[in-house]
Amino acid sequence: MSPEKPPGRAVGRITRGTTGTNRLRRVDRWIARHPVLRRTADPFVVDLGYGASGVTALELEARLRRARPDVEVLGLEIAPERVARAREQLQAVRAGQGPFAPDARVSFARGGFEVPAPGGRRPAVIRAFNVLRQYDEADVPDAWARMCARLQPDGILVEGTCDEIGRVSTWIEVGADAVPRTLTVSLRLTGLESPAIAAERLPKALIHRNVDGERVHDVLTALETEWTRAVAASAFGPQQRWQAALQAMTDAGLSVRGRSRWRLGELTVPWASVAPG
Ligand SMILES: C[S@@+](CC[C@H](N)C(=O)[O-])C[C@H]1O[C@@H](n2cnc3c(N)ncnc32)[C@H](O)[C@@H]1O
Repeated sequence: MSPEKPPGRAVGRITRGTTGTNRLRRVDRWIARHPVLRRTADPFVVDLGYGASGVTALELEARLRRARPDVEVLGLEIAPERVARAREQLQAVRAGQGPFAPDARVSFARGGFEVPAPGGRRPAVIRAFNVLRQYDEADVPDAWARMCARLQPDGILVEGTCDEIGRVSTWIEVGADAVPRTLTVSLRLTGLESPAIAAERLPKALIHRNVDGERVHDVLTALETEWTRAVAASAFGPQQRWQAALQAMTDAGLSVRGRSRWRLGELTVPWASVAPG
């Protein structure tokens, strides 16, 4: 596909708009628990590239408001017709139609990686999901730099990818200095055959690096090996098996963070463990 160039000064290109209800629940849950959201003086969050429908931005607000009732979500899209569509959806929400709160603190506007916001307001969090997937690996550093330049000083960019129904999801946390900090893999454990499935849904910065000699390949290989070895623990459920696998990785010297979230099917590792060589 050859993405068309939009009019105006929005930075980026229009790509496929595939999205879906509940698709981003795993990353939303993670953002809701993130200290940045909890501590910020201005809980302003951007959903960049929300797609053909505004549903994921509305869901993001609904999930984050449980942690921060004063959260505000701005959905940005580079495709003007997707902005018009989301604004129509928002009118229906305001009229009390559908599952979202009529007073949902959500708005929609046109924008790209330059992350325009009224009054130059800076987001605490930018979630850019399934956006860079359709770009080239070489486009990633510039896109990260542009988005991160708009963040609050302690803000984060959460840039990642998932499958159509959100059972397989991965994302990178990037700081306001545009330096990546961690990679998180989040999998629905019930019915999971192999965590190697995550390789198909790695963020653009890593998806072409899942080859011999690259760190991310080593991490995914270790995860697969330990998941296979931990089969006995599955008698107690897939969560126990996952936790046993991650404990074995830790015992082998890998820095696996977020132990309290292992039971959710998450694995978070420092960027240094997966950075392209
Ligand atoms: C595959 S959809 C993802 C929708 C949603 N985020 C999700 O994960 O379900 C990607 C969307 O990103 C938009 N997009 C691509 N580049 C963009 C950019 N630079 N700024 C804003 N939106 C962009 C496309 O127009 C498309 O609607």
